[in-house]
Amino acid sequence: MRLSRYCTGLWLACTALAYSTLSDDTLKNGLPHPQKSDFDIHTGSILAPILIPRVPGTEGSLKVLNHFVQYFRKELPDWTITFQNSTSKTPVHGDKEVPFVNFIATRDPPWTRPGNVARLNLVAHYDSLIKPEGFIGAIDSAAPCAMIMHAVKAIDAALTKKWTSMQTDDFDLDFEEPRGIQVLFLDGEEAFQRWTDTDSIYGARSLAAEWDTKRHPAMSTFKSYLDDIELFVLLDLLGSAENPSIPSWQHTSHWSYVHMAKLEQKLRGLGLFKSTTGAPWLPDADKSETSSFRSYVMQDDHIPFIARGVHVLHLIPGQFPRVWHKMDDNGDNLDIPTVEDWALLTAAFAAEYMELDGFFDPAAHAKRDDVLTSKTEL
Ligand SMILES: *[C@@H]1O[C@H](CO)[C@@H](O)[C@H](O)[C@H]1NC(C)=O
Ligand SMILES: [Zn+2]
Repeated sequence: MRLSRYCTGLWLACTALAYSTLSDDTLKNGLPHPQKSDFDIHTGSILAPILIPRVPGTEGSLKVLNHFVQYFRKELPDWTITFQNSTSKTPVHGDKEVPFVNFIATRDPPWTRPGNVARLNLVAHYDSLIKPEGFIGAIDSAAPCAMIMHAVKAIDAALTKKWTSMQTDDFDLDFEEPRGIQVLFLDGEEAFQRWTDTDSIYGARSLAAEWDTKRHPAMSTFKSYLDDIELFVLLDLLGSAENPSIPSWQHTSHWSYVHMAKLEQKLRGLGLFKSTTGAPWLPDADKSETSSFRSYVMQDDHIPFIARGVHVLHLIPGQFPRVWHKMDDNGDNLDIPTVEDWALLTAAFAAEYMELDGFFDPAAHAKRDDVLTSKTEL
Protein backbone atom coordinates (compact mmCIF):
# COMPACT_ATOMS: atom_id res chain seq x y z
CA MET A 1 0.00 0.00 0.00
CA ARG A 2 1.25 3.41 -0.81
CA LEU A 3 -1.80 5.49 -0.21
CA SER A 4 0.07 8.28 1.45
CA ARG A 5 1.04 9.64 -1.98
CA TYR A 6 -2.56 10.25 -2.86
CA CYS A 7 -3.67 11.53 0.46
CA THR A 8 -3.39 15.30 0.17
CA GLY A 9 -6.62 16.71 1.50
CA LEU A 10 -7.81 13.28 2.42
CA TRP A 11 -5.27 12.18 4.91
CA LEU A 12 -7.63 11.34 7.74
CA ALA A 13 -9.23 8.62 5.68
CA CYS A 14 -5.88 7.47 4.35
CA THR A 15 -4.12 7.03 7.66
CA ALA A 16 -6.76 4.56 8.70
CA LEU A 17 -6.17 2.49 5.57
CA ALA A 18 -2.45 2.62 4.99
CA TYR A 19 -1.21 1.37 8.32
CA SER A 20 -1.29 -1.62 10.52
CA THR A 21 0.11 -0.39 13.82
CA LEU A 22 2.80 -2.11 15.88
CA SER A 23 1.49 -4.21 18.75
CA ASP A 24 2.53 -3.56 22.34
CA ASP A 25 4.20 -6.95 22.32
CA THR A 26 6.35 -6.00 19.32
CA LEU A 27 7.36 -2.73 20.98
CA LYS A 28 8.25 -4.52 24.21
CA ASN A 29 9.63 -7.87 23.11
CA GLY A 30 10.28 -7.71 19.37
CA LEU A 31 11.88 -4.46 18.30
CA PRO A 32 15.54 -4.36 19.45
CA HIS A 33 16.12 -1.54 21.92
CA PRO A 34 19.18 0.76 21.94
CA GLN A 35 22.10 -0.40 24.07
CA LYS A 36 24.74 1.44 26.01
CA SER A 37 27.41 -0.23 23.90
CA ASP A 38 26.02 1.68 20.87
CA PHE A 39 25.48 5.10 22.42
CA ASP A 40 28.26 5.62 24.96
CA ILE A 41 29.89 8.94 23.97
CA HIS A 42 33.44 7.56 24.39
CA THR A 43 33.15 3.92 23.40
CA GLY A 44 29.73 3.56 21.74
CA SER A 45 30.19 1.71 18.47
CA ILE A 46 27.59 3.84 16.67
CA LEU A 47 27.81 7.28 18.25
CA ALA A 48 31.38 7.82 19.50
CA PRO A 49 33.09 7.82 16.06
CA ILE A 50 30.79 10.65 14.88
CA LEU A 51 31.63 12.95 17.81
CA ILE A 52 34.58 14.64 16.09
CA PRO A 53 34.81 17.82 13.99
CA ARG A 54 33.69 16.92 10.44
CA VAL A 55 33.85 20.04 8.34
CA PRO A 56 33.29 19.29 4.62
CA GLY A 57 36.46 18.36 2.77
CA THR A 58 38.49 17.68 5.94
CA GLU A 59 39.96 14.49 7.33
CA GLY A 60 37.31 14.36 10.08
CA SER A 61 34.59 14.34 7.44
CA LEU A 62 36.26 11.42 5.64
CA LYS A 63 36.66 9.52 8.91
CA VAL A 64 32.96 9.79 9.69
CA LEU A 65 32.03 8.84 6.15
CA ASN A 66 34.26 5.80 6.53
CA HIS A 67 32.51 4.95 9.81
CA PHE A 68 29.16 4.93 7.99
CA VAL A 69 30.56 2.70 5.26
CA GLN A 70 32.12 0.24 7.73
CA TYR A 71 28.94 0.08 9.79
CA PHE A 72 26.70 -0.69 6.84
CA ARG A 73 29.18 -3.20 5.35
CA LYS A 74 29.48 -5.06 8.63
CA GLU A 75 26.03 -4.74 10.22
CA LEU A 76 23.82 -4.22 7.18
CA PRO A 77 25.39 -6.14 4.28
CA ASP A 78 22.11 -6.26 2.30
CA TRP A 79 22.13 -2.50 1.87
CA THR A 80 23.56 -0.81 -1.22
CA ILE A 81 25.92 2.07 -0.51
CA THR A 82 26.38 4.92 -2.98
CA PHE A 83 27.69 8.47 -2.83
CA GLN A 84 26.50 11.61 -4.51
CA ASN A 85 29.36 14.07 -4.84
CA SER A 86 29.54 17.70 -5.79
CA THR A 87 31.85 20.66 -5.33
CA SER A 88 31.13 24.30 -4.67
CA LYS A 89 32.87 27.53 -3.90
CA THR A 90 32.05 29.00 -0.48
CA PRO A 91 32.37 32.53 0.98
CA VAL A 92 35.46 31.50 3.00
CA HIS A 93 37.45 29.29 0.59
CA GLY A 94 38.34 31.82 -2.13
CA ASP A 95 38.75 30.10 -5.49
CA LYS A 96 38.91 26.64 -4.00
CA GLU A 97 36.16 24.16 -4.84
CA VAL A 98 35.09 22.40 -1.63
CA PRO A 99 33.97 18.77 -2.06
CA PHE A 100 30.61 17.63 -0.62
CA VAL A 101 29.84 13.93 -0.27
CA ASN A 102 26.33 12.67 0.46
CA PHE A 103 26.17 9.13 1.85
CA ILE A 104 23.26 7.04 0.56
CA ALA A 105 22.32 3.53 1.74
CA THR A 106 19.37 1.72 0.22
CA ARG A 107 17.48 -1.52 0.77
CA ASP A 108 14.66 -2.64 -1.53
CA PRO A 109 12.66 -5.88 -1.73
CA PRO A 110 14.88 -8.38 -3.58
CA TRP A 111 12.44 -9.04 -6.44
CA THR A 112 12.12 -5.38 -7.40
CA ARG A 113 14.16 -3.00 -9.43
CA PRO A 114 14.78 0.67 -8.63
CA GLY A 115 12.20 2.92 -10.22
CA ASN A 116 9.34 0.68 -9.09
CA VAL A 117 9.98 1.02 -5.36
CA ALA A 118 8.61 3.79 -3.14
CA ARG A 119 11.03 4.49 -0.35
CA LEU A 120 10.92 5.73 3.20
CA ASN A 121 13.93 8.05 3.55
CA LEU A 122 15.58 8.67 6.93
CA VAL A 123 17.74 11.77 6.73
CA ALA A 124 20.24 13.77 8.81
CA HIS A 125 23.26 15.92 8.04
CA TYR A 126 26.68 14.68 9.13
CA ASP A 127 28.86 17.75 8.55
CA SER A 128 29.74 20.08 11.43
CA LEU A 129 30.03 23.84 11.65
CA ILE A 130 33.43 25.33 10.74
CA LYS A 131 33.42 27.79 13.68
CA PRO A 132 33.99 27.82 16.63
CA GLU A 133 37.10 25.76 15.91
CA GLY A 134 36.79 22.26 17.31
CA PHE A 135 32.98 22.42 17.29
CA ILE A 136 31.47 18.92 17.60
CA GLY A 137 27.79 19.36 16.81
CA ALA A 138 26.55 16.52 18.99
CA ILE A 139 22.86 17.32 18.54
CA ASP A 140 23.71 18.97 15.21
CA SER A 141 23.57 16.25 13.88
CA ALA A 142 25.88 13.52 15.17
CA ALA A 143 23.22 12.10 17.47
CA PRO A 144 20.47 12.12 14.79
CA CYS A 145 22.81 10.17 12.45
CA ALA A 146 23.38 7.63 15.24
CA MET A 147 19.63 7.35 15.90
CA ILE A 148 19.05 6.49 12.25
CA MET A 149 21.90 3.95 12.24
CA HIS A 150 20.30 2.22 15.19
CA ALA A 151 16.82 2.35 13.66
CA VAL A 152 17.74 0.64 10.39
CA LYS A 153 19.77 -2.02 12.18
CA ALA A 154 16.83 -2.65 14.51
CA ILE A 155 14.44 -3.41 11.64
CA ASP A 156 16.83 -5.09 9.19
CA ALA A 157 16.28 -8.73 10.22
CA ALA A 158 12.51 -8.21 10.26
CA LEU A 159 12.67 -6.77 6.73
CA THR A 160 14.53 -9.86 5.58
CA LYS A 161 11.99 -12.12 7.24
CA LYS A 162 9.03 -10.28 5.75
CA TRP A 163 10.44 -10.15 2.24
CA THR A 164 11.52 -13.80 2.34
CA SER A 165 8.08 -14.87 3.46
CA MET A 166 6.45 -12.75 0.75
CA GLN A 167 8.55 -14.51 -1.89
CA THR A 168 7.80 -18.00 -0.61
CA ASP A 169 4.20 -17.59 0.52
CA ASP A 170 2.63 -17.36 -2.90
CA PHE A 171 2.14 -13.70 -2.35
CA ASP A 172 0.94 -11.75 -5.36
CA LEU A 173 4.10 -9.71 -5.70
CA ASP A 174 2.73 -7.78 -8.65
CA PHE A 175 -0.24 -6.64 -6.67
CA GLU A 176 1.65 -5.37 -3.65
CA GLU A 177 3.25 -2.02 -4.32
CA PRO A 178 6.84 -2.53 -3.26
CA ARG A 179 8.32 -0.33 -0.60
CA GLY A 180 12.00 0.12 0.26
CA ILE A 181 13.97 2.14 2.72
CA GLN A 182 16.84 4.57 2.29
CA VAL A 183 19.24 6.45 4.55
CA LEU A 184 20.62 9.85 3.49
CA PHE A 185 23.48 11.35 5.46
CA LEU A 186 23.91 14.76 3.87
CA ASP A 187 27.03 16.92 3.74
CA GLY A 188 27.42 20.70 3.87
CA GLU A 189 24.22 21.61 5.69
CA GLU A 190 25.95 24.30 7.73
CA ALA A 191 26.76 27.76 6.39
CA PHE A 192 30.48 28.63 6.33
CA GLN A 193 29.96 32.32 6.95
CA ARG A 194 26.29 33.23 7.40
CA TRP A 195 23.15 31.31 6.43
CA THR A 196 22.00 32.38 2.94
CA ASP A 197 20.40 30.54 0.03
CA THR A 198 23.85 29.91 -1.46
CA ASP A 199 25.85 29.48 1.76
CA SER A 200 23.99 26.52 3.34
CA ILE A 201 22.64 23.02 2.57
CA TYR A 202 25.25 22.40 -0.16
CA GLY A 203 24.75 18.65 -0.20
CA ALA A 204 20.96 18.75 -0.11
CA ARG A 205 20.75 21.31 -2.91
CA SER A 206 23.02 19.26 -5.12
CA LEU A 207 21.22 15.99 -4.41
CA ALA A 208 17.71 17.36 -4.92
CA ALA A 209 18.71 19.00 -8.22
CA GLU A 210 20.44 15.85 -9.48
CA TRP A 211 17.63 13.48 -8.52
CA ASP A 212 15.01 15.78 -9.99
CA THR A 213 16.45 15.18 -13.46
CA LYS A 214 17.98 11.70 -13.00
CA ARG A 215 15.54 9.35 -14.76
CA HIS A 216 14.62 5.78 -13.92
CA PRO A 217 14.33 3.41 -16.90
CA ALA A 218 11.32 4.00 -19.15
CA MET A 219 8.12 2.25 -17.97
CA SER A 220 9.14 2.52 -14.32
CA THR A 221 6.49 3.47 -11.76
CA PHE A 222 8.49 6.54 -10.83
CA LYS A 223 10.00 8.87 -13.41
CA SER A 224 12.83 10.46 -11.46
CA TYR A 225 14.92 9.51 -8.43
CA LEU A 226 13.09 12.24 -6.54
CA ASP A 227 9.67 10.75 -7.33
CA ASP A 228 10.37 7.52 -5.47
CA ILE A 229 10.87 9.35 -2.15
CA GLU A 230 7.58 8.53 -0.48
CA LEU A 231 8.44 10.28 2.76
CA PHE A 232 11.54 12.27 3.73
CA VAL A 233 11.99 12.09 7.50
CA LEU A 234 14.55 14.68 8.59
CA LEU A 235 16.01 14.55 12.10
CA ASP A 236 17.88 17.60 13.39
CA LEU A 237 18.94 19.10 16.75
CA LEU A 238 17.79 16.08 18.77
CA GLY A 239 19.45 14.57 21.82
CA SER A 240 19.47 17.44 24.28
CA ALA A 241 17.48 17.18 27.49
CA GLU A 242 16.12 20.62 26.81
CA ASN A 243 13.06 21.66 24.80
CA PRO A 244 12.54 18.60 22.68
CA SER A 245 9.01 19.74 21.73
CA ILE A 246 8.46 19.41 18.00
CA PRO A 247 5.61 21.06 16.09
CA SER A 248 3.96 19.45 13.09
CA TRP A 249 5.50 21.65 10.39
CA GLN A 250 4.12 20.20 7.19
CA HIS A 251 0.53 19.78 6.15
CA THR A 252 1.30 17.16 3.51
CA SER A 253 2.97 14.86 6.00
CA HIS A 254 0.87 15.55 9.07
CA TRP A 255 -0.55 12.02 8.88
CA SER A 256 2.97 10.63 9.47
CA TYR A 257 3.51 13.04 12.38
CA VAL A 258 0.34 11.66 13.95
CA HIS A 259 1.65 8.10 13.65
CA MET A 260 4.92 9.01 15.28
CA ALA A 261 3.13 10.91 18.06
CA LYS A 262 0.96 7.86 18.76
CA LEU A 263 4.04 5.66 18.92
CA GLU A 264 5.62 8.10 21.35
CA GLN A 265 2.52 7.86 23.56
CA LYS A 266 2.56 4.06 23.37
CA LEU A 267 6.25 3.75 24.21
CA ARG A 268 5.82 6.08 27.17
CA GLY A 269 2.70 4.24 28.30
CA LEU A 270 4.57 0.93 28.22
CA GLY A 271 7.38 2.42 30.32
CA LEU A 272 9.91 1.87 27.54
CA PHE A 273 11.41 5.37 27.55
CA LYS A 274 14.48 6.00 29.70
CA SER A 275 14.55 9.80 29.58
CA THR A 276 12.81 12.18 31.91
CA THR A 277 12.66 15.18 29.57
CA GLY A 278 9.38 17.01 29.14
CA ALA A 279 6.63 15.07 27.44
CA PRO A 280 5.20 14.90 24.93
CA TRP A 281 7.86 15.53 22.33
CA LEU A 282 5.25 15.50 19.59
CA PRO A 283 2.37 17.55 21.01
CA ASP A 284 0.52 18.31 17.76
CA ALA A 285 -1.15 14.94 17.19
CA ASP A 286 -4.58 16.52 17.50
CA LYS A 287 -3.83 19.52 15.30
CA SER A 288 -6.63 19.95 12.81
CA GLU A 289 -6.06 19.71 9.10
CA THR A 290 -7.40 23.20 8.60
CA SER A 291 -5.05 24.94 11.02
CA SER A 292 -1.99 26.67 9.64
CA PHE A 293 1.28 24.85 9.03
CA ARG A 294 4.55 26.80 8.97
CA SER A 295 6.04 24.78 6.14
CA TYR A 296 8.84 27.09 5.04
CA VAL A 297 9.70 28.74 8.34
CA MET A 298 12.50 26.37 9.29
CA GLN A 299 15.48 26.46 6.94
CA ASP A 300 17.06 23.02 6.69
CA ASP A 301 18.06 20.25 4.29
CA HIS A 302 14.44 19.56 3.35
CA ILE A 303 13.91 22.91 1.61
CA PRO A 304 15.08 21.91 -1.91
CA PHE A 305 13.03 18.72 -1.54
CA ILE A 306 9.71 20.26 -0.41
CA ALA A 307 10.20 22.91 -3.09
CA ARG A 308 10.04 20.00 -5.58
CA GLY A 309 6.96 18.43 -4.00
CA VAL A 310 8.55 15.81 -1.73
CA HIS A 311 6.61 15.03 1.46
CA VAL A 312 8.72 15.82 4.52
CA LEU A 313 8.36 14.92 8.18
CA HIS A 314 10.69 17.42 9.85
CA LEU A 315 11.70 16.43 13.36
CA ILE A 316 13.32 19.58 14.73
CA PRO A 317 12.41 21.40 17.97
CA GLY A 318 10.45 24.63 17.59
CA GLN A 319 12.94 26.25 19.96
CA PHE A 320 16.58 25.34 19.50
CA PRO A 321 18.41 23.99 22.58
CA ARG A 322 20.72 26.50 24.28
CA VAL A 323 23.89 24.68 23.19
CA TRP A 324 23.01 25.24 19.52
CA HIS A 325 26.10 26.34 17.52
CA LYS A 326 28.14 26.69 20.71
CA MET A 327 31.20 24.74 21.88
CA ASP A 328 28.89 23.26 24.48
CA ASP A 329 27.16 21.21 21.81
CA ASN A 330 29.42 18.26 22.59
CA GLY A 331 29.09 14.68 23.78
CA ASP A 332 29.06 15.63 27.46
CA ASN A 333 25.94 17.72 26.97
CA LEU A 334 23.99 15.05 25.18
CA ASP A 335 21.29 13.45 27.27
CA ILE A 336 21.95 9.82 26.39
CA PRO A 337 18.58 8.51 27.66
CA THR A 338 16.95 11.06 25.32
CA VAL A 339 19.22 9.98 22.44
CA GLU A 340 18.32 6.33 23.02
CA ASP A 341 14.61 7.12 23.25
CA TRP A 342 14.73 8.98 19.94
CA ALA A 343 16.57 6.01 18.44
CA LEU A 344 13.85 3.68 19.72
CA LEU A 345 11.05 5.94 18.48
CA THR A 346 12.69 6.25 15.06
CA ALA A 347 13.06 2.46 14.88
CA ALA A 348 9.42 1.98 15.89
CA PHE A 349 8.28 4.49 13.27
CA ALA A 350 10.31 2.77 10.56
CA ALA A 351 9.05 -0.67 11.64
CA GLU A 352 5.45 0.48 11.48
CA TYR A 353 5.94 2.27 8.18
CA MET A 354 7.48 -0.86 6.65
CA GLU A 355 4.60 -2.92 8.14
CA LEU A 356 6.86 -5.27 10.09
CA ASP A 357 4.57 -6.29 12.92
CA GLY A 358 4.89 -10.04 13.39
CA PHE A 359 8.31 -10.30 11.75
CA PHE A 360 10.51 -9.64 14.79
CA ASP A 361 12.28 -12.45 16.57
CA PRO A 362 11.63 -12.29 20.34
CA ALA A 363 14.52 -14.67 21.04
CA ALA A 364 17.01 -12.27 19.46
CA HIS A 365 15.54 -9.43 21.50
CA ALA A 366 15.85 -11.40 24.74
CA LYS A 367 19.43 -12.42 24.01
CA ARG A 368 20.47 -8.82 23.53
CA ASP A 369 18.94 -7.89 26.88
CA ASP A 370 20.89 -10.68 28.59
CA VAL A 371 24.15 -9.41 27.20
CA LEU A 372 23.29 -5.92 28.38
CA THR A 373 22.32 -7.06 31.87
CA SER A 374 25.43 -9.12 32.42
CA LYS A 375 27.55 -6.19 31.28
CA THR A 376 25.96 -3.70 33.63
CA GLU A 377 26.28 -6.16 36.50
CA LEU A 378 30.05 -6.44 36.16
C1 LIG B 1 32.60 10.45 -3.86
O1 LIG B 1 33.54 10.81 -2.88
C2 LIG B 1 33.93 9.75 -2.02
C3 LIG B 1 34.81 10.31 -0.92
O2 LIG B 1 35.87 11.04 -1.45
C4 LIG B 1 34.62 8.66 -2.83
O3 LIG B 1 34.98 7.59 -2.00
C5 LIG B 1 33.66 8.17 -3.89
O4 LIG B 1 34.30 7.24 -4.72
C6 LIG B 1 33.13 9.33 -4.73
N1 LIG B 1 32.05 8.78 -5.53
C7 LIG B 1 31.83 9.12 -6.79
C8 LIG B 1 30.65 8.51 -7.43
O5 LIG B 1 32.54 9.92 -7.36
ZN1 LIG C 1 23.82 23.59 12.76
